[in-house]
Amino acid sequence: MSADFRGEFGYSPAGTWAAPGRINLIGEHTDYNDGFVLPIALPHQVTVTAARRDDDVLRLVSRQAGGRVELRIDDLTPGRVTGWAAYPAGVVWALRQRGHPLHGLDLLIDGDVPPGAGLSSSAALECATALAAAELYDVDLAGRDLAELARYAENEFVGMPCGVMDQAASVLCTAGHALLLDTRSMAATQVPFDPAAEDLTLLVIDTRAPHRLVDGAYAARRRSCERAAVVLGVPALRDIGSDDLDRVLAALPEPELRTRTRHVVTENDRVERFVALLRAGRIAEAGPVLTASHVSLRDDYEVTSPELDTAVEAALAAGAVGARMTGGGFGGCVIALIARQRVEQCVTEVRQAFERSGFAAPATFTAAPSDGAHRVA
Ligand code: GLA
Repeated sequence: MSADFRGEFGYSPAGTWAAPGRINLIGEHTDYNDGFVLPIALPHQVTVTAARRDDDVLRLVSRQAGGRVELRIDDLTPGRVTGWAAYPAGVVWALRQRGHPLHGLDLLIDGDVPPGAGLSSSAALECATALAAAELYDVDLAGRDLAELARYAENEFVGMPCGVMDQAASVLCTAGHALLLDTRSMAATQVPFDPAAEDLTLLVIDTRAPHRLVDGAYAARRRSCERAAVVLGVPALRDIGSDDLDRVLAALPEPELRTRTRHVVTENDRVERFVALLRAGRIAEAGPVLTASHVSLRDDYEVTSPELDTAVEAALAAGAVGARMTGGGFGGCVIALIARQRVEQCVTEVRQAFERSGFAAPATFTAAPSDGAHRVA
């Protein structure tokens, strides 16, 4: 990485920082409702090799995107920078907005988180950049504060109204654990997650149908939830208990608000049930909770796609104990919890189902919970 940096910029870097992509096990579209999420960090990471500059220039090179962008820090304004460069530029802008006197940086970006697959390559890029910039400029920023800053950059600079899950996962996850995050209090609990102990594997099926989160559908879901909370007189849908659901739904005037609310309330409940089963060492029994989440995202929240539904159905038909879409939806990935010895057959059957439906071949890999963002060199 260091040689690459020298090749690009003509001098040696100060260091390399890495931040992972994530998979959310369960708790989908709950984070902007102040609810609960349960992501794991992937072994796939974005790395940022970096050095400070004496002037106010930000030079960005991306190995994946194959591009080079040069910006003046004083010119950074929300909406002005587009494409991959908006994420690191947004982080630098956010640090300055928060009063940290940052100057220029040279950043070489590399990594293996598939972009556009719903695995949070953008959050990983933001978090790796934030770690690098904070350390290089002696800014005391770590953990949830760093995740919050990265989320702020994405909301305000990039213009994507996401919740905090992806950035929190990229920073706070630890190997061997899922991260139970209360997105209201930001209380984070590490829950041991070791499917191999029950001879199970977490299979990821990347449908390769690009997820399109910024195209308005995500923002529309978020607005519906906020509207429902206003009608119900609560700060957020997190405040609705599942015991109260029937009464609450009857109070909502529009069918759309009712289905969106039902998803969020039942999904928060499913996170709790899933975690209880993990803690009891009954991972296989947690499978149906995953599948119930998918059904709710498909029927009530309406964020799945034919590819996602086909992948879930084929995985279940091939013997998975549970399967669901993960991330924002409208494309992206499915996760399936499946006996180790059935993985290969499952992959074959999912491929065949995609072929029958005329979809492009999916990519698959197995994932073990990995570490959050850190300095690597
Ligand atoms: C995207 C967003 C997250 C979260 C998920 C859905 O990944 O970035 O904040 O809302 O969708 O759970």
